[in-house]
Amino acid sequence: MKHKSLIGESAAIRDVELEIECAGRSGAKVLITGESGVGKEVVAHLIHQRSDRSHRPLVTINCAGVPETLLESELFGHVRGSFTDAHRDKTGYLEQAHGGTIFMDEIGEMSLRMQALLLRFMENGEIQPVGSGRTQSMLNVRVIAATNRDLPARIADKTFREDLYYRLNVIHVAIPPLRERREDVRPLWDHLLRALCVVHHVPPPHISESAMSKLIAYDWPGNVRELRNVAERVLLRAQSGEIGLSDLPREITGQFSSVASAPKVAQRPTSDVLLERMTVHGESFWSVVYEPFVSRDLTREDLRAIIARGLEQTKGNYKLLIMLFNLPPSDYKRVLNFLRKYDCHMPFQPFRSVPAQLGSNAAAANSAWSEARVGVRR
Ligand SMILES: Nc1ncnc2c1ncn2[C@@H]1O[C@H](COP(=O)(O)OP(=O)(O)OP(=O)(O)O)[C@@H](O)[C@H]1O
Ligand SMILES: [Mg+2]
Repeated sequence: MKHKSLIGESAAIRDVELEIECAGRSGAKVLITGESGVGKEVVAHLIHQRSDRSHRPLVTINCAGVPETLLESELFGHVRGSFTDAHRDKTGYLEQAHGGTIFMDEIGEMSLRMQALLLRFMENGEIQPVGSGRTQSMLNVRVIAATNRDLPARIADKTFREDLYYRLNVIHVAIPPLRERREDVRPLWDHLLRALCVVHHVPPPHISESAMSKLIAYDWPGNVRELRNVAERVLLRAQSGEIGLSDLPREITGQFSSVASAPKVAQRPTSDVLLERMTVHGESFWSVVYEPFVSRDLTREDLRAIIARGLEQTKGNYKLLIMLFNLPPSDYKRVLNFLRKYDCHMPFQPFRSVPAQLGSNAAAANSAWSEARVGVRR
């Protein structure tokens, strides 16, 4: 989706708009912070579009889930023969972004060694392709970085370099979570629903005021991304031209306030609760599983259990698992790299013969899964 402006009527969004204008004009480095799904990537695109670099490339690199050596060669390029799979020279993303902008997403996940290399680049525009003795310099690339991490806390525990933080944080755009700017729910809903109707070739349904007030009252832990997922689910299920209370998912109508706080649900295994947040509530694997795992709130056992439960539902198919976990197909490699890195990549064969489970959770997951497939077919 290409964005011309930020959707929203809150004072907070107007402030973010002003920051985008200012960042667009100035050309300085930008750090965008905010919870998962608040629109950090949208903001990065808008800043690039409104800068004098807009006719040059905007290159995006996601620093999470990419093993360090791969990240280094993606950023800085490599020369032929520098490692087993390096069959020819490869230009890195920084060089590809020359004259334009590089958007470094999830910068908080970068290793300390990569942070040092990035800092060197930011100080003098120097890059050294992997396996090359020469350094190239004079690259002119604007850096925009984003994270949903608390970087000052990472500086305190010495996992993020303070000097890099100050380099990146020249203009700081902080996007508040949707629950702190509830006025934006209605305009966002209208906008997202209209866009989805175009994609699915259906006329936009009207929403009742009681249903809209439930949407406004809900806390949206997955922010705008969750709102978009709910809009898509409701749209695909809507029986008539009017969306009413009964068309909304249960967690929004308040039949239970949140999955984690419902006592009946809290006794269920963590893997089931987290799987349900992805399959029923439309949250993404990165926020529901990856983040708590890297901050050590989830164990390897939990992670393996979630993968196993997911693979049961997809009968061992990892591509479908990616959809089940609310991720775009392009995240496939990233997820697998992450699982391998932590030794949680399970063989698919044992799941091939397991018959599909028809428990309530499995049924919910299956329905979310078939919706995901609808989304992919278009
Ligand atoms: N103000 C907005 N106007 C229009 N669309 C928005 C807005 N904010 C977010 N979106 C939409 O919400 C979804 C999530 O936004 P985005 O990918 O930019 O979030 P993010 O902050 O980068 O999330 P993450 O930290 O998980 O990567 C996208 O589909 C995006 O188009
Ligand atoms: Mg993002």
